[in-house]
Amino acid sequence: MKKKIAIVKGDGIGPEVINEGIKILETIEQYSDYKFNFIEAPMGGNVWKKFGDSLPESSFEIMKQSDAILFGAVGLPDIPQGVAEKAILRVRQDLDLYVNLRPVKLYPSLHDMCPLKTEIVEEGIDISIFRENTESVYAQIGGIVNQESAINSMVYTRKGVSRIIEYAFNFVKKNKLEELISVDKANILTVSQFWRQIFQEIGSNYAQIKQINYYVDAFCQWLIRDPSSIRTVVTENMFGDIVSDEAAYLVGSLGMGASGNINPHGVSMYEPIHGSAPDIAGQEIANPIGTILSIKMMFEESFQDVKMGKFIDKAVEDSLRSNRTSDIYSKYAQNNVNIKRVNCKEMGDAIVKRLEILLKN
Ligand code: NAI
Ligand code: MG
Repeated sequence: MKKKIAIVKGDGIGPEVINEGIKILETIEQYSDYKFNFIEAPMGGNVWKKFGDSLPESSFEIMKQSDAILFGAVGLPDIPQGVAEKAILRVRQDLDLYVNLRPVKLYPSLHDMCPLKTEIVEEGIDISIFRENTESVYAQIGGIVNQESAINSMVYTRKGVSRIIEYAFNFVKKNKLEELISVDKANILTVSQFWRQIFQEIGSNYAQIKQINYYVDAFCQWLIRDPSSIRTVVTENMFGDIVSDEAAYLVGSLGMGASGNINPHGVSMYEPIHGSAPDIAGQEIANPIGTILSIKMMFEESFQDVKMGKFIDKAVEDSLRSNRTSDIYSKYAQNNVNIKRVNCKEMGDAIVKRLEILLKN
């Protein structure tokens, strides 16, 4: 299977974590039928400094013509605000990446990193949040009216709402899960009532899947009261932004979070949830797991290869038993002689080693 992968290393720790991601892909290439063609697509602050453009047209062309995009992070402290963000927004918009998927998983060996009490998370956390990525208040409809008021309109379209809900239902079905939770504010907002109606309509085609409607405020409480009982969530753009940040914190480090910006009928982009982390850039201590788990999603969502996703996940889980980067090197880890503090490259090496064993068998 030949796959063209556009590589956006970006700024700060971007290149460091992406290099570890590429090692994972090269390992997969060695032990499977996949053949990858990596093409670098420069983007971000460093590119802006050189060419005055944070997303050169040639880079965008490379992304457009790839089978998937692997993205590190962009942004530098010494460039004007908005320059790097503009490039990301352009990619999301022009490739119509309408599904934002953020899985949140607490691995058994990382329980000490969770800010919640042990008894609450004994059964682990494994949540997938599907956030609508193109509409609602983020569509920037509105503005300052006068000195006394400002408006942002929350606009939903049937097309926008239907396609994200459909994708989430499909995910539940594909992964043989039992239920889908839809998060809204239908007790107050008309747009939410519209959303809920469409959720019901589409849900009627998935009668075997249990369907739960939940208000966003109550859902934020549920998330910290009993996260183990939540598995798949679909919601609109702003609620998804907030709820997914809350959920991401449950595993203790930004460095662990993966995400996908998905267009099911086009090219999708996979990226760790963290930024370019200028405070630790160049030290080779960044946690590459967010990037590696983004690659797991690339296999599951873009290459329809759930099995390879499971291998990557298992390799990460196994490696975490005895290796931790600084961001997850807790007091508990310090006091445990079996857990080594490792740098970015060593973490990547440990995961590659586990993955090799899994793929050979
Ligand atoms: P950040 O995510 O870069 O860093 C926040 C904190 O988390 C820092 O202390 C950092 O050291 C730590 N951290 C982040 N990733 C880590 C990793 N893999 N391993 C260990 N520690 C990690 O967010 P911040 O500082 O707000 O933003 C820095 C720059 O990144 C800004 O220019 C911002 O605009 C940009 N940014 C870019 C994003 C993207 O490219 N998608 C997303 C978020 C921010
Ligand atoms: Mg956010």
